[in-house]
Amino acid sequence: MKKALITGITGQDGSYLAELLLSKGYKVFGLKRRTATPSFENISHLLDNIELISGDLLDLASLIEAIRISQPDEIYNLAAQSFVTDSWSQSAYTGHASALGVTNMLEAIRITNPNIRFYQASSSEMFGKVLEIPQIETTPFYPRSPYAVSKVYGHWITVNYRESYGLFACSGILFNHESPRRGYDFVTRKVTDAVAKIKLGLQKELFLGNLDAKRDWGYAGDYVKAMWLMLQQNKPDDFVIATGETRSVKELVEVAFSHVGLDWTKYVVQDPKLMRPAEVDLLLGNPKKAEEKLGWKPEVSFDELIKMMVESDLEKIKAKKYIK
Ligand code: NAP
Ligand code: GDD
Repeated sequence: MKKALITGITGQDGSYLAELLLSKGYKVFGLKRRTATPSFENISHLLDNIELISGDLLDLASLIEAIRISQPDEIYNLAAQSFVTDSWSQSAYTGHASALGVTNMLEAIRITNPNIRFYQASSSEMFGKVLEIPQIETTPFYPRSPYAVSKVYGHWITVNYRESYGLFACSGILFNHESPRRGYDFVTRKVTDAVAKIKLGLQKELFLGNLDAKRDWGYAGDYVKAMWLMLQQNKPDDFVIATGETRSVKELVEVAFSHVGLDWTKYVVQDPKLMRPAEVDLLLGNPKKAEEKLGWKPEVSFDELIKMMVESDLEKIKAKKYIK
């Protein structure tokens, strides 16, 4: 039986990846950092089938111990301070977790068992103020936030450990991917949660920042398949994972509100406080390499994704408030 260790297992991607690996017969371990009030919302249905190990990306010894306990064939490093906005107010912490945390995990692998295959959760945010459209694996990086800067470090340290020590280390450059398990801070979930509350008469307005920013949005359930595929290849490599389509925040809002028969212009208020100090205006990925080498393709369309999220939020809120 193959064994995998997932960092960030309580997050959106960690939960979908754990489900995927369990369905493939893996024994799944998850690194769980100590928090005063743990949130298992995304993995509560999996807790009987996975093993959680206490540890933190900032603590090398805890990572070595996690590897000793789990003896994994594969490690998926999904843990990070992943919210771009907060990376300005907590820039040093973001660097510790999302940049040096990657070095800690790579060092833990190098010291304990260099045969472990490693996946690093890199990001399309690294392309930032884009130097090429669409973005591919060779497009130069121009990060626009402390988060993106830390991810550039995480990407290159992964490449460096592959080249220095021959580790089977892959960097997945994933464009935005969403789902009903997305954190409420991110714009898709903020919108679908608000649409559901407005529809049910529980909220009146939705405050947003930049409506013109464009993102290449896909479905998280599709994207974790690409992570797994990268670690099943004969050679380690880096891949862009994207849909090849881009939409503005305004289009996202239109699709979400119109799904419940509402006119978004009556509810959305632009708030200058929600604008970022430096914005990423446009992300659009070309996943050709992943299609050709991994046989990977996104399956859920943008409209299906937003509809899925709105429906899920309507159900969750109704269940909480006992609304029919
Ligand atoms: P997420 O929902 O924010 O989950 C982040 C996870 O990291 C949580 O489980 C969190 O644990 C854990 N974590 C944070 N700091 C940690 C630390 N110091 N030690 C151990 N665990 C820690 O993120 P996601 O959307 O699933 O994304 C997964 C990864 O992909 C992240 O690295 C993100 O930066 C990257 N990425 C995401 C996207 C996207 O669109 N979703 C695109 C490209 C790249 P707690 O529950 O304790 O907070
Ligand atoms: N969060 C948020 N909240 N974003 C808003 C809002 C708002 O009220 N109003 C407008 N936006 C715009 C942001 O300015 C940004 O241009 C866009 O919506 C998307 O913001 P997020 O959903 O927060 O995601 P992100 O693109 O910054 O980062 C996500 O994707 C990256 C991959 O490109 C995160 O998941 C990162 O961890 C990930 O690496």
